[in-house]
Amino acid sequence: MKRASDWMDATERVREQLPLALTGLSYAEDHIEDWDYATADTKSHTHCYHIYPAMMIPQVARRLIRLYGRPEGTLLDPFCGSGTSLVEARLAGMHAVGIDLNPFAVFLARAKTTCFDLGAVVQDANALRQGVEHLLKQGVSIEPPRFFNIDYWFKPEARTDLALLKHAIYTYTAPSTRDFFLVAFAATVRESSNTRRDEYKLYRIPTSELLHYRPQVFPTFWERVGRNLRGLAEFLAECVQRTWVHVIEGDTRLKIPLEDNTVDLIVTSPPYGDSQTTVAYGQFSRLLLQWLGFEDKIAKSIDRRTLGGQKRAARVVYHSPTLNQTLDTIHAHHPNRAAQVKQFYDDFSECFLEITRVAKPESYACFVVGNRTVKGVRIPTDLILIEIASCFGWKHFTTYHRRIPNKRMPLRNSPSNKLGELCETMTQEHIVILRRE
Ligand SMILES: C[S@@+](CC[C@H](N)C(=O)[O-])C[C@H]1O[C@@H](n2cnc3c(N)ncnc32)[C@H](O)[C@@H]1O
Repeated sequence: MKRASDWMDATERVREQLPLALTGLSYAEDHIEDWDYATADTKSHTHCYHIYPAMMIPQVARRLIRLYGRPEGTLLDPFCGSGTSLVEARLAGMHAVGIDLNPFAVFLARAKTTCFDLGAVVQDANALRQGVEHLLKQGVSIEPPRFFNIDYWFKPEARTDLALLKHAIYTYTAPSTRDFFLVAFAATVRESSNTRRDEYKLYRIPTSELLHYRPQVFPTFWERVGRNLRGLAEFLAECVQRTWVHVIEGDTRLKIPLEDNTVDLIVTSPPYGDSQTTVAYGQFSRLLLQWLGFEDKIAKSIDRRTLGGQKRAARVVYHSPTLNQTLDTIHAHHPNRAAQVKQFYDDFSECFLEITRVAKPESYACFVVGNRTVKGVRIPTDLILIEIASCFGWKHFTTYHRRIPNKRMPLRNSPSNKLGELCETMTQEHIVILRRE
């Protein structure tokens, strides 16, 4: 029988980044000029649970909270994705609200910010291990879910094992710990699918490689459970228990379910505007959602519903000379692409109505953005954001720049959505700090 200490044997990390600024002490890191964190461990705490496209790195969220946050205040991430800033808020002693329209992001962000009872999780992990062994010994077979193209994306043995594993999770774990195991299950779905691991989009492993590919559902799952338990232990040791988190599935354009003037700090990385081409949150999440039991049509509609995903009339008036200039250049040769880019910024501007309504006067908003390229034209989102925000009562405070040192973003992508057609993607991020007037 495994005990918590066995699962956690490698957890003795150096706790280098305690929430000092929020307790009023100065912190050496605030004097570091560099925001790159090229060699930093980005998988500490519950950040190790699951990957997600274009994740913010925890060190950036942590530092922004130290610099601009307030103890016991409320942090909002209106595009929370996997919940990086929400996890960091709890570690730093702030309450947090996250919004995302992708149900997989919401599921993951909730799990990452939950203080699961470690003893109960270990107990259920042991029960689950015995349960799985029992089911396998008995030769129990569970019908895999039926969704479009499941045979294309999963080998027969992966389908059978995943179906049995999911059944076992629902049979042998308590509702209070279940999501911890379902996150490890989701990671296992991805790892044992026929998708290429170096892509966020749904591309299949080439047929020649598939012949030799042997998905390892159970070993993968147990490896994930062990790793996530270490992350959970680390999170529990540092999480400020009196803090609370709400993660809401919703569209930031439409409604942020908070009262006026209640948010002390915004830390967020909005979509880049290329969900249809490069950073496809929906494609990344589709198989995971289908295995988790979400409706097919929800799983398939995410990229269409994301900012800039479909044509709709602008609801707000804003003015950005930099955007106009950029659109003119793209429009000269590619009018359709210019219209798509404009749609993204129309949608993005709309979010400012709600973001501004809930932010307290004199509070800060930290936006981590990248300047992507469309048809060879670089779009300076960092400048466009400042111009748009100024129309809603935000003043530019400062901008930090960071090089993207790791493979969190694909280094090359296919802007035309064709596999094999490559072009350089972003190698820099800009952290734009705005202050509400
Ligand atoms: C760059 S990702 C955020 C990643 C996050 N910072 C993390 O560390 O995982 C942007 C997120 O915005 C979400 N999103 C796009 N349009 C949205 C909208 N209208 N309302 C709420 N969320 C939206 C996407 O689903 C995606 O999860």
